[in-house]
Amino acid sequence: MAVQAPRHIELSVGEALRQAAETVGTPCYVYFPDAMQKRAQKIHEVFGRRFGISYAVKANPNLDLLRALDPHIHGLDVSSGGELKLALEAGYAPSRLSFTGPGKSLPELREAVRLGCGEIVVESMDELADVQNITQEFDRVARVLLRISPRSMPKGFGVNMAGRPSQFGIDEEHLDEALQTLSSMKSIHLAGFHIYAGAQCLNAESIVENFLNYMRIFREFAQRHKLQPEILVFGGGIGIPYHEGENAVDLDYVAEQINPALDALLGLPEFQRATLLLEIGRYLVGEAGYFLTSVRRIKHSRGRHMAICDGGLNNHLAACGHFGTIIHRNYMISRLPTQASLEPATELQEFDVFGPLCTTIDQLARQLRLSDLACGDVLAIHHSGAYGFTASPMMFISHRWAKEVIAERKGDGYALRVNKLFED
Ligand SMILES: Cc1ncc(COP(=O)(O)O)c(C=O)c1O
Repeated sequence: MAVQAPRHIELSVGEALRQAAETVGTPCYVYFPDAMQKRAQKIHEVFGRRFGISYAVKANPNLDLLRALDPHIHGLDVSSGGELKLALEAGYAPSRLSFTGPGKSLPELREAVRLGCGEIVVESMDELADVQNITQEFDRVARVLLRISPRSMPKGFGVNMAGRPSQFGIDEEHLDEALQTLSSMKSIHLAGFHIYAGAQCLNAESIVENFLNYMRIFREFAQRHKLQPEILVFGGGIGIPYHEGENAVDLDYVAEQINPALDALLGLPEFQRATLLLEIGRYLVGEAGYFLTSVRRIKHSRGRHMAICDGGLNNHLAACGHFGTIIHRNYMISRLPTQASLEPATELQEFDVFGPLCTTIDQLARQLRLSDLACGDVLAIHHSGAYGFTASPMMFISHRWAKEVIAERKGDGYALRVNKLFED
């Protein structure tokens, strides 16, 4: 059941990265929309289109990527007024958007109601009351999904958002009450349920168990309250392997286990009208992006080889181990080929790799084993397409911001396009 994570850079991808480093300069992110589209196709293939895809914009809100996903997905999940604007700018109709987030402001909720946002994902009873008041202001009916926080969840998720006190969603234990209150709100249309219980899970069995638990909850509450949900959102939590030794999720196994249960659910009278959505971010975009950083200085200090690069924690917080992880583990990192590296490899050496910031936490890798490393060499950090550019403190210490480059498939190679937004 183990699926090996890719360790090497495909030739045409490596060539595009080298070109990006040369022409755009480092630090930069390079995204490959074709890789992301392949991921979407894989999902449709294994689940036999039982799920539509809802892409979580927070994973990467780059406009080109949102546009490239459009034909492959049901819609976008946005989590702020800013993401809502980006989704519209990328050309998505408001009806294709859901709006999650535990702390939406009144202006954000007003905008969602005014636009006729597909569904507002309500995360608390207070928020439900706010949405109701706003619908009365606008004399509108709002479509909402109730986000449920399951009382338990399986082990194996890197981030747990349920099975404990949680700011996300309405506790399963209070859902009966919430549904009762909602049933008397004339301007609220309950379109269905939403669960996103945890993220970054690499264990296929845990993902299956989690989905079965979602289905139990959907079934129980729909039956007890005589509801016919139109939409059921399955927060995927499908992880990607970031570190040496981790394996990719065996999605074929997940689908094999889950598809019969999904069919059984859809066969029940309560779910005749239901559309099932798989809400994911990193599984689609994470492996479709690389972060490039160049070695600026090589130092030797008290027996350690050190490489200091032009972009680090300020551009890529997660690779430094400060985004949802407790212990630092190196991301997979390759040196882009140079003339020198085409010569016979010298003995492997261990390098500690740092960014340019005046803080000890700006460390990209510990004891990275490479055959020599020199000033000007470019390091490519794999699996950097999600929670990279926008999840990093670019302003910290006022260094140059990383650029974003889109590598569009052209024949056997790639053509590069730079996101002009953040040029010097
Ligand atoms: C509500 C919700 N949906 C979707 C996602 C996307 O998660 P991932 O990128 O791990 O697939 C998240 C991540 O935190 C989330 O909170």
